[in-house]
Amino acid sequence: MCSIIGYNGQLFVAPLLVDSLKRMEYRGYDSVGIATINNGKILLKKGVGKVLEVDGTLDLKSMKGFTGIGHTRWATHGGVTEINAHPHYCCTDSIAIAHNGIIENHRELKEELIDLGHVFKSDTDSEVIAHLLENYYNDQKNLKKSVMKTCSRLKGAYAFVAAFEDGTICGSRYNEPLIIGTVDTGNFLSSDILGFIEFTDKAIFLDNRDIVILDSNTYQIYDSDGKNVDRTATQVAWELAAIDKGKYSHHTLKEIHEQPKALEKVGISSLDKIEEFCKVLSKSKTVFLTGSGTSYHCALIAKHLLSNFGKIHAETLMSSEFQYTLAGVDNSSVLLAFSQSGETADVLHAVKAAKQMGAKILSIVNVSTSSLARISDSFLVTSCGPEVGVAATKSFTTQLSLVYMIADRLCNGCLGFSANRSLVIDAICEVLDSEKEFCGIAEKIHPARDIYVLGRSIHYPIALEGALKIKELSYIHAEGIAAGELKHGPLALIDRDSYVIILNPSDSTSDRNIASAHEIKARGATIIGISDLPNEVYDIFIKIPKIPSIECGAIYPIIEVIPLQILAYYLSLVRNIDPDYPRNLAKSVTVM
Ligand code: M6R
Repeated sequence: MCSIIGYNGQLFVAPLLVDSLKRMEYRGYDSVGIATINNGKILLKKGVGKVLEVDGTLDLKSMKGFTGIGHTRWATHGGVTEINAHPHYCCTDSIAIAHNGIIENHRELKEELIDLGHVFKSDTDSEVIAHLLENYYNDQKNLKKSVMKTCSRLKGAYAFVAAFEDGTICGSRYNEPLIIGTVDTGNFLSSDILGFIEFTDKAIFLDNRDIVILDSNTYQIYDSDGKNVDRTATQVAWELAAIDKGKYSHHTLKEIHEQPKALEKVGISSLDKIEEFCKVLSKSKTVFLTGSGTSYHCALIAKHLLSNFGKIHAETLMSSEFQYTLAGVDNSSVLLAFSQSGETADVLHAVKAAKQMGAKILSIVNVSTSSLARISDSFLVTSCGPEVGVAATKSFTTQLSLVYMIADRLCNGCLGFSANRSLVIDAICEVLDSEKEFCGIAEKIHPARDIYVLGRSIHYPIALEGALKIKELSYIHAEGIAAGELKHGPLALIDRDSYVIILNPSDSTSDRNIASAHEIKARGATIIGISDLPNEVYDIFIKIPKIPSIECGAIYPIIEVIPLQILAYYLSLVRNIDPDYPRNLAKSVTVM
């Protein structure tokens, strides 16, 4: 949930760290700091706010030196304050550290270190790393051994980088990512390849408990016993560097508009892999589908498609709940995990648990070098390019496309997705072309106290997804409801101040949805219908195109989610919220 970066080389480090942190800000953006080493001293500046804001007030870029570390924070332990921002010094300011993860035994370690005379300045769990390093370095005067000893004391998940005043950078990881980027002008240690992709496409993914020491022109990797180890370099895609906003005012809007292009190409060059997925899925006794947030909503739709079109026994479980319901997972099962980042801790935890029970692991990720991709038996890539906005948009529709392709293959094309993909994309483009109308709708409904989103059958996961987009981007309370459940409780909430969005494409669920809409309208609520057909019950009508050659309503989810994405985006603007960086959230949730 935080980003860390370290660099040791020939370039001025401060501007480079600031740019890297800007690119990784999606991982956490409540405070920022960097530490550079100049003339045998560690200089440190940090503050609350986003990278640009803190750089604006503290002039981070002007800090001197060729070696340094940096951090953007998503607070877990300790409030959002300058003191809790990273990096953290040890007592003598001779070591500074930046950490991502949670040190579960930080209380015991802190007490022990205080007894030894260490003085703590922050409320964070991370600061113990700086004092442990200092403690062991004072004892042994051996950098490698002090890092080894420090790591052996840490419980929980961590990736950290530490700067020593002699000009060395070191780091280690356990269940949080840490990647070396290597180039002629120096070496990087980073949470994400985005931290160094502008300089190099050569990345070395460290294993759990690896220890790295970066000098100005070399790096050494050791295992937890201190033995030298080799880790192979991977070439990563330069295109990941393309993360500017282009002509759009926000990444979120750009990513919403990138969907048609992304959908044109997703899966096209992976037909063999899709075939392989189909074989594995058909052979399994039960397919467990998992993910978090938006990716979980994709898993819910996958359950419909695999059960109804693939005739496969599928169960869906959100990743954070998976560990509590492992019964039934065995070596005849397949776990299909969805994750844009491939780094979500809950998903990785579920996958590891299922793997231990003997299940085969398949995954659908956007980042082919991610932890999830690397622990899967086989994976498919959505290849929609970097998704910077915290709200998942293009990653969701590309995940869905791959699921449609798999289901279509399993039923020999009866779903009609693959044969009609271009018509689906045209329909999405038509909704995107009407984007400006959503600004007016957002103006009308933005004072809402509550927005309910209703859907039945395969549209219910989109109701959940729409509600998630609205709450995440606009901070309006929103709830996705299975329309059939209305009378079983939620109807009690409906009054004249309620806004209810009904997902109602003309399929077999349509008549019952109209009946529900009348029941809601009778209680005075405002009804917003998303449908291919108008109806007098709608106070506001959002039209989605009908695709004449496709009979089956199962295709609509990928189209009907688009107006919900755009509406949520405009609600955030009308309410003066930065849609790219909603409060309290981070793009990649690497803590459980
Ligand atoms: O990277 P992942 O797909 O594993 O992320 C899962 C969720 O954290 C993510 O979808 C989250 O719910 C989004 N912010 C929703 O827009």
